Amino acid sequence: PTIYAITPTYSRPVQKAELTRLANTFRQVAQLHWILVEDRATRSELVSRFLARAGLPNTHLHVPTPRRYKRPWLPRATEQRNAGLAWLRQRHQHQSAQPGVLFFADDDNTYSLELFQEGLWSPGCSGARYMRTTRKVSVWPVGLVGGRRYERPLVKNGKVVGWYTGWREDRPFAIDMAAGFAVSLQVILSNPKAVFKRRGSQPGMQESDFLKQITTVEELEPKASNCTKVLVWHTRTEKVNLANEPKYHLDTVNIEV
Ligand code: UGA
Ligand code: MN
Repeated sequence: PTIYAITPTYSRPVQKAELTRLANTFRQVAQLHWILVEDRATRSELVSRFLARAGLPNTHLHVPTPRRYKRPWLPRATEQRNAGLAWLRQRHQHQSAQPGVLFFADDDNTYSLELFQEGLWSPGCSGARYMRTTRKVSVWPVGLVGGRRYERPLVKNGKVVGWYTGWREDRPFAIDMAAGFAVSLQVILSNPKAVFKRRGSQPGMQESDFLKQITTVEELEPKASNCTKVLVWHTRTEKVNLANEPKYHLDTVNIEV
């Protein structure tokens, strides 16, 4: 199956560095299609140039977040993730779907190649541990999130029975969007109305509100050795210090950063 990674991204001083790090990971993954969705009214030159040289099958989308939703306490990237879903549905509407698996990859997180079954191989490790084998919806632990070293689905006899989380344990799916789950393309196509919602979604409930439209906890497929390995980290990049940046351009050349 092709893996589709949907990455929301927005213009800021660290953007190119973040995208470079992500591309360096994804370039090593076979059959990965990168759907990059800019939070902007138009495609930026920077991202267009970047993708042209990224050496990865990709799709470059854009949709601006309405101004009223640009608030620190509101969920981010709702419109961008939905644009990625809409593109996938549109692209596959006329052909019976080829096998595919999609996941949401924020531009600042860290992804182990083991998540894609690429790279390190240990003896006796079974393919069923990895994202690409997702039949409907799969889940795995996320590191450095929720005020803990990690959060993870609790697994008993190969089934998810609860969540190890430090935050709002009442969430039906106590999982971070930062790539704690993958969904098969088939499931996305057979649930054409499943989207991320602004209205009625409480803080931190976007993942749950989306997943409950397409699956149940009983159905979840645990990956990463029955959810005992952290292969994704919710890393966050420090805000850059530009205190000494001159007001007017002083350098003799104009360098893209
Ligand atoms: C956490 C979760 O890991 C995200 O999956 C979730 O979307 C987010 O909270 C949320 O509050 O909605 P966090 O590290 O706090 O993530 O958020 P960011 O990494 O700043 O943003 C998540 C994604 O949205 C990133 O890919 C970022 O590039 C993008 N984004 C952020 C935009 O497209 N526009 C923005 O204005 C801000
Ligand atoms: Mn983040």
